[in-house]
Amino acid sequence: MISLRAWRNCSVKTRVTTVASTVMALVCVFASLMLLMAAPPPPLYGSAPVLAGFIGGSLLLIAATALVTYRMMSKTLQPVRAISGKLATIQPSNLSERVPLPSHDDEFKELARAINQALERAQAAIQEQLRFASDTSHDLRNPLAAMRAEIEDSLVGREETDWAETADRLLESVERLQELVGNLLEISRLDAGVAGHHDLLNLAVLVAGELDHRQSKVRVVRRFSSGVMVNGDRIGLTRLLNNLMDNAERHAHSSVRVTVEHRGDAAVLEVHDDGSGVPPEQREIIFERFARLQEARAKDAGGSGLGLSIARQIAEDHGGALTVEDSPSGARFVARFPRPAAPASLSG
Ligand SMILES: Nc1ncnc2c1ncn2[C@@H]1O[C@H](COP(=O)(O)OP(=O)(O)O)[C@@H](O)[C@H]1O
Ligand SMILES: [Mg+2]
Repeated sequence: MISLRAWRNCSVKTRVTTVASTVMALVCVFASLMLLMAAPPPPLYGSAPVLAGFIGGSLLLIAATALVTYRMMSKTLQPVRAISGKLATIQPSNLSERVPLPSHDDEFKELARAINQALERAQAAIQEQLRFASDTSHDLRNPLAAMRAEIEDSLVGREETDWAETADRLLESVERLQELVGNLLEISRLDAGVAGHHDLLNLAVLVAGELDHRQSKVRVVRRFSSGVMVNGDRIGLTRLLNNLMDNAERHAHSSVRVTVEHRGDAAVLEVHDDGSGVPPEQREIIFERFARLQEARAKDAGGSGLGLSIARQIAEDHGGALTVEDSPSGARFVARFPRPAAPASLSG
């Protein structure tokens, strides 16, 4: 007697064949019983040749059922073998390959399609990682090359070198490297889904506290409503605000307006500068990693193009969104967060 576990471990072909031949055997036994109980007994009943013929016929019938079922199942399961055979050969290096689609519109075709879609997503993710690694190396190489050139030049004319000036210039590159590495760390933390500690926060209090610490070279106008609460990670939200403020201050002509208020069901943080704005066709591109528009490169060669992608990821990790919206002048960045379900005690 095979155990239930051994039965479950058998191939589907074997299980279906066993069930079909068992059903056929039961039909033969049932027919024999009907024959035994028939009254009056059929002619030649009980004769040895008829009995032997009956038993032999039954065995033949059972064997034929097993054979036909086994063959049918082999043919039916052929697409599964083709799919798993192909999957076994797919490596990170040939993720562009796809499993074959069965010709019939059945569940196996559905499975093959779902596998191909998963492969497509995995391929896109790996390509994104490779692009990211290459952009990162490129951005790390530039300040390092600048530092090396600076040091080499200073050493060539070491007698005349003003070492304090050299240190100043080196410090610029070091700061750039530091900012880039900080952003990369933040990205890896966000990608790993390491959720910060979420508290119920008063958004206006948090933003005001952060703006108080910033030394801004432009006028910063605050327009805060009271009681705008969000359920969020203080460090993440502070980073989001600072990334928007760094950009706004860099691009503003003379002022930046920061608004915290409720709009419909959302808690909104808006940073609006009076600079040249972002052209509508670039308003999504700027959220891509390492994306920088020409104007920004001219204004500040040191940026990494990671600030907005980090800010958007933080907003999305809070169940919110970050977009650039229309405005008569300048760039208007709007972060929306869902209102917390049940208000609790305020915390700054
Ligand atoms: N307030 C703004 N006004 C105009 N353009 C902006 C503004 N903020 C961001 N941008 C554009 O978006 C790009 C990406 O911004 P970001 O990801 O913060 O990178 P970075 O600040 O390092 O350039 C900037 O390089 C700039 O071209
Ligand atoms: Mg920035």
